[in-house]
Amino acid sequence: MSPELNELYVRLADGQRHNGAELADDLGISRAAVWKRIESLRRIGLPVSGTAGNGYRIAHPIELLDANVIRQHLAKPSIQVEVIGAVDSTNARLATNTPVHGRALVAEAQKAGRGRRGRQWLSPPGGIYLSLGWHFESGLAGLSPLSLVVGMAAARTLREAGAETVGVKWPNDLVIDNAKLGGCLVEVNGAAEGPCQAVIGIGINLQLPESAAVDQPWTCLSRHADGFSRNRLVAGLIDNLARDLPELDASGFDAFAGQWHRCDVLDGRKVHVAMAGGEDFVGLAKGIDAQGRLLVDHNGRIQALGSGEVSVRGR
Ligand code: BTN
Repeated sequence: MSPELNELYVRLADGQRHNGAELADDLGISRAAVWKRIESLRRIGLPVSGTAGNGYRIAHPIELLDANVIRQHLAKPSIQVEVIGAVDSTNARLATNTPVHGRALVAEAQKAGRGRRGRQWLSPPGGIYLSLGWHFESGLAGLSPLSLVVGMAAARTLREAGAETVGVKWPNDLVIDNAKLGGCLVEVNGAAEGPCQAVIGIGINLQLPESAAVDQPWTCLSRHADGFSRNRLVAGLIDNLARDLPELDASGFDAFAGQWHRCDVLDGRKVHVAMAGGEDFVGLAKGIDAQGRLLVDHNGRIQALGSGEVSVRGR
């Protein structure tokens, strides 16, 4: 978001009605220029209603991101936190830093948010779009359960914020009652046996407009929790990850595998599995194995599925 657009965004974030002429005076620009900026904000997904004549407003106030507030709430202040306006993708932007370890990037909005399996992640202003860079000594081979550890850490943070019924749909969709509340995109670079760098992205819907064009059932945190703070949530996500990632690196997945069943929303359910190779089948989900692979009973035979190989839908 350009500084000019940000000036207007910051004013509208309070959720009050703002008169076009007053905004123009305040910002030292014409009413037509205000309207143009309003259109730019609408293009990145800010649901601004109204006109220059009757004033502009957004449906719900947005708590603006503030790196200082996030830092104040961090139990681990060694993480570097950067807040930006609208960026294409926090994962893509963070990956341009070297080293990425211990850096967190959080954006007001994303213009080309990336989801898993090449999908788009709808990222209007006001949600959580966080990426954290991490260095692992364990090679790629040992990091296959990383996605699950990230999902569990995110779910714990959401429960701490009041969304008590949040669960994880393998490997790391954050869901409530079958509706998607958030998701995680973990991108790892490195050698099979040597050190690796991961960029861990988490997106959470806080207040999506009803009209949001999402191709699956979705929900947002405002429907399930009251009085949460966007900045505190970001701090909570960073803290929970900064606690769990070193443990995964040093001791492996064992300690986490035992917690999975508490948040596993697929366990015992019929699932539709679409293999990357094209083959589809329906089976019964049976938890995970010691490497975090999904176990599915298909006609009495248990298959262990890696997250890169399949897409799973609960039925
Ligand atoms: C999914 O498809 O479930 C994963 C969504 C991950 C979205 C987050 S938002 C922050 C980070 N930056 C991105 O471009 N994607 C991830």
